[in-house]
Amino acid sequence: MTRKPQIHLEKITYDNVDAIVNLRVAKDQRSYVASNQWSLVDAYLSLASGRPVHPFGIYNGKTLVGFIMISYNNDWSGYKRDAWLNSDEYRFYKDKPFYYIWRFMIDRKFQKRGYGREALRRAVEFIRTYPSGLADFCVLSYEPENEVAREFYRSFGFVELNEPGYYEPGDEISAVLKL
Ligand SMILES: CC(C)(COP(=O)(O)OP(=O)(O)OC[C@H]1O[C@@H](n2cnc3c(N)ncnc32)[C@H](O)[C@@H]1OP(=O)(O)O)[C@@H](O)C(=O)NCCC(=O)NCCS
Repeated sequence: MTRKPQIHLEKITYDNVDAIVNLRVAKDQRSYVASNQWSLVDAYLSLASGRPVHPFGIYNGKTLVGFIMISYNNDWSGYKRDAWLNSDEYRFYKDKPFYYIWRFMIDRKFQKRGYGREALRRAVEFIRTYPSGLADFCVLSYEPENEVAREFYRSFGFVELNEPGYYEPGDEISAVLKL
């Protein structure tokens, strides 16, 4: 019998950072997410420029199984496309702050055990404490060929941005969850 996941999130400290950096996705998933080492560089750069970010280790009981990083943003400029600026979707979202699930991975050894779903639940619970400010939405994005992520987030309640003109070749797909 598989045991129910006992997932919680823990802050990154000197005690767990080496283990976090050593987590790995499968070879064919490497293009879906940055390395955790690079994500921690992003976290530093983000904090250094005054933008809040919350990186966490994902634990099942005492075992480190993954990494998730959440940021807070009120600037959709990274998402603007000229053709999108006149859309109803853009008019709706612009000027609205949002949380962003910037990075998310479960180590290849621990995937498909329900840890990812439980970790996302915990992350959304954390976001709903509004640690960096109020927001109505949580946003994330994934590579178009990442079918597992697409279906997983859809089943969790995320809805893809799909106004014509939003995407350009090479763009990740963005999806939004109402908080
Ligand atoms: C996406 C990811 C975080 C999911 O983590 P996980 O712990 O394997 O997820 P879970 O076991 O909780 O499964 C979540 C759902 O995805 C499905 N799923 C997970 N891996 C799958 C796979 N390889 N093939 C098919 N379905 C899969 C599960 O069946 C499950 O659906 P269900 O709850 O309806 O049964 C993990 O696959 C991963 O780290 N992928 C590489 C990095 C990545 O793509 N990150 C997201 C970038 S935005």
